[in-house]
Amino acid sequence: MTPEQALIPEASRRADTAYLDFVEGIREFVLNERDGLDHDIDQLFAALEQRRGKAYASYDEVAEVMDRTAVGPLRNRLMRTQQEMQWRRIVATLEPKRAALEAELTSYEERGPGELLLDPAFQTPDYANVHFHLQPGGYHKDTLAGYLYHYSTKVFFRGLNDSDAIHKGAAKPTPVPADGQVNRILDLGCSIGQSTTALKEKFPQAAVWGIDHSAPMLRYAHRRSVSLDIDVNFAQRLAEDNGFPDGHFDLVYSMILFHEIPTRIAEEVVQEVARVLRPGGLFVAHDFVSSNNSTPLQLYHREFDCRYNGEPYAQQFCHSDFQGMMERAGLKLQRRIGDGYGFMNTWWAER
Ligand SMILES: C[S@@+](CC[C@H](N)C(=O)[O-])C[C@H]1O[C@@H](n2cnc3c(N)ncnc32)[C@H](O)[C@@H]1O
Repeated sequence: MTPEQALIPEASRRADTAYLDFVEGIREFVLNERDGLDHDIDQLFAALEQRRGKAYASYDEVAEVMDRTAVGPLRNRLMRTQQEMQWRRIVATLEPKRAALEAELTSYEERGPGELLLDPAFQTPDYANVHFHLQPGGYHKDTLAGYLYHYSTKVFFRGLNDSDAIHKGAAKPTPVPADGQVNRILDLGCSIGQSTTALKEKFPQAAVWGIDHSAPMLRYAHRRSVSLDIDVNFAQRLAEDNGFPDGHFDLVYSMILFHEIPTRIAEEVVQEVARVLRPGGLFVAHDFVSSNNSTPLQLYHREFDCRYNGEPYAQQFCHSDFQGMMERAGLKLQRRIGDGYGFMNTWWAER
């Protein structure tokens, strides 16, 4: 077992572990790239596009076809139901341990390596009061939100991220500024800190900060990095108002943050990134693909997620002009690449 796997929260009962494995199996049945329902939907659209001689370009066109099939609504029903089943059982299995887990978080607060800065006066912005992915209490209302989220992402990624492989894989090819200097790194919307620790492993000489609006996520992130003996710092701050000095960072990084904030906030976040990057510093953002290269399945999936699965801002982000936001902030896009994690793209921009 890897050190990361050893830190995945444990269910209270073996029956809960088995139940959640079954829920993971439902996701696998839908999402498996070779023989899941999504694979069938992709194939169906490829055949239809070939017959009609042009691509399906808008959600309305796609839904017109897909909502009348058996496979489309079945897919959506399974995706929603498995999320509901997952959360109900994760909450139920961690509830008997609540007092012990809360005590565990407290016992780690003053421990190092790394600092944890929480802001008792912090005001959560209204746009963040969403039950993302249907998580009960959203990211910040339940003191055990970090534990709930970590177990849920085990199911969400179908075991593929149990050792942080997705976060490490995304951090590994992170470019460095032209002068090779990477002394300070900021990870925006770090959640339970998986990319924060992956960045420290990639750049051991750098001081790494992860920020998030959610105190429960940060407390869990700190508990996790201390247990892994990785020296990273966490602070309760907004990505659009991070409180660091101008030109402070060599690298600002974000992983799957932007599709979970409204476009007007995304614009502010990118302005703030430009403010805290030093000249020549880099902004690296991994997030969902934008609409100009979405497949029919991606359009269909995202709209379903927006309406019924706790992702209200994802379609907005994917139709926004992310490159334009960077240019307006004075950042110059260097590269934009699909990085192989299904729905994600990576943008590298220079200040
Ligand atoms: C989908 S999670 C991504 C977590 C992490 N980057 C990862 O790759 O696992 C989005 C995180 O961003 C945080 N977040 C959303 N809006 C934020 C904002 N404006 N400022 C700081 N954190 C924010 C949420 O609390 C949540 O933990």
